[in-house]
Amino acid sequence: MCGIAGYIGERNAPGILFDMLKKLEYRGYDSAGVACFSGGKVIVSRGKGKVDEVRKKSRITEIKSTVGIAHTRWATHGEPSDENSHPHSDCTGQFTVCHNGIVENYKEIRVELSNRGHKFLSQTDTEVIPHLIEELYSGDFETAFVSMLKKLKGSFALVAVDSNSPDRILVARKESPLIIGVGKGENFIASDTPAVLADTKKVIILEDMEYGIVKKDGVLIKRLDTGIPVDKEVHDIKWDVKAAEKDGYDHYMLKEIFEEPAAVKNALRGLENITATAKKLSKYERIYIVACGTASYAGQVGRYVFERYGISAEVVIASEFRYSTINTVDKKCAVIAVSQSGETADTLASVKEAKNRGAYIISVVNAVGSSLTRMTDDNIYTYSGPEIAVASTKAYVGQATTLTLLALSVAKEKGKITEAYQNEILDDLYAMPDKINSILNSREKIKKLAAEQKDCKSFFYLGRRLNYPTALEGALKLKEISYIHAEAYPGGELKHGPLALLEKGVTVIAVCPNDDLKEKMESNMQEARARKATLLRVAEDGEFTVPVCDPVLSPILYVVPLHLFAYYLSTSKGIDPDKPRNLAKSVTVE
Ligand code: AGP
Repeated sequence: MCGIAGYIGERNAPGILFDMLKKLEYRGYDSAGVACFSGGKVIVSRGKGKVDEVRKKSRITEIKSTVGIAHTRWATHGEPSDENSHPHSDCTGQFTVCHNGIVENYKEIRVELSNRGHKFLSQTDTEVIPHLIEELYSGDFETAFVSMLKKLKGSFALVAVDSNSPDRILVARKESPLIIGVGKGENFIASDTPAVLADTKKVIILEDMEYGIVKKDGVLIKRLDTGIPVDKEVHDIKWDVKAAEKDGYDHYMLKEIFEEPAAVKNALRGLENITATAKKLSKYERIYIVACGTASYAGQVGRYVFERYGISAEVVIASEFRYSTINTVDKKCAVIAVSQSGETADTLASVKEAKNRGAYIISVVNAVGSSLTRMTDDNIYTYSGPEIAVASTKAYVGQATTLTLLALSVAKEKGKITEAYQNEILDDLYAMPDKINSILNSREKIKKLAAEQKDCKSFFYLGRRLNYPTALEGALKLKEISYIHAEAYPGGELKHGPLALLEKGVTVIAVCPNDDLKEKMESNMQEARARKATLLRVAEDGEFTVPVCDPVLSPILYVVPLHLFAYYLSTSKGIDPDKPRNLAKSVTVE
């Protein structure tokens, strides 16, 4: 997820564009850049670093220009660096583009254009776009732009300029958001409304497969497939900037829970790389999954999926791995380091030690270019986009999805499962975003459950096998943001001690997929009921109702109501779930 912006009007573009980027930094902040018209050319200034750092170093703020585009980056292809930052231009500098999204077919386009003599300066997928416009250009900017769009696969929100057409900015949208702020004698383009609210509350929202020509005194939007103009509504935005950064949600955490369907979809974008990495991983008999906190629970999901197909994988908490398990690591081992930030000190230290001992190191990581990604042999990105809330939600869903895909690929590679079976599970995974949305649509019911549980002092989360990590994650989320005691246990463990704690006033949340252990979970729940504990089930027919899905994918689906439950319990107690006490988003110290 990145932030893109554009300005065309009478005022000075560079300053306005940097101000707009500042309001979009929550969408990405590893590098930034601005391109503005001046003296018949397009001047580009960009670099690694946050918006303020790039602005401070840039000379572009000294030029006089009334038209330009800008970008603040969350890296997906190519680590954060000056040459990977946007905007990107073609060979001649005539066409300059900022992009938010993923060009899934960029490799073949890049090969084809390189064979035609185009020179690429970056490792990004985006850079193929201006070169493609250049290749397709035969005198008309809009025609070349549309032809380019029709060759792209994947997702895009685009702003593009042509140094021969200083009176317009071309825009386009497919899956990644793009809006136009309508001003008086000026217009603004942005990924999201926070960037324009200081100047206008009148907004046109582009829909998928629409493109447009934005001039200072007019906006023309057309359908990409037919080229027919579309009569667009101009909305009056009621939000202030802060609310708009959260897309109207009260907190980033809730916004990020609502991005969990996209987290599954984005993790699936990494399938080609996952398959390639699985080929290498399948050669190792000993697999360690190393992580902290929520990431370790996602690691547990991966472990159970590996085991489902007869492959052993051990999850070790990084702070334990580095001081003990490390003694067992050698070049016959593979280590999968799972981390949203890629900066967690214990995870980095574990990877460093394992590397010194010759292990094959893979990351499952969200932050491209983070420290972890520079220590590994291979990286698998979850593409979940920036996660701002301290409590991890969409990143967990992205990690669990990615590790499930990895385990399936290794099982296929080892001949433990057939391609037909793998495709059957993949089909169910592609249908997962809609299933998650059906839970999100029932949030009022979950909010009510949370209000009813507001004064409960102790929670037990129970799960078996694949959903023991679901229970662990649900309990941690509750602890983190509502400060209530919660413990997770494998369902079969209750009678080995914890049952003594169950009594009236204690709530048991049981994760009960419709699988071969359902009856076992049922008897665990009977144990809880017999002690007068309150029982809430995450089940197809539970208080937390979930749709039908293949049991192997249930951790990805069944965690969603538990994220919502923790969020609503936190807010019902007047706590700000985005900034829980004593915690940091990334624990970069030991
Ligand atoms: C999760 O909600 C917590 N914020 C915490 O457990 C986190 O998952 C852990 O610190 C690991 O962080 P990482 O994924 O960035 O390595």
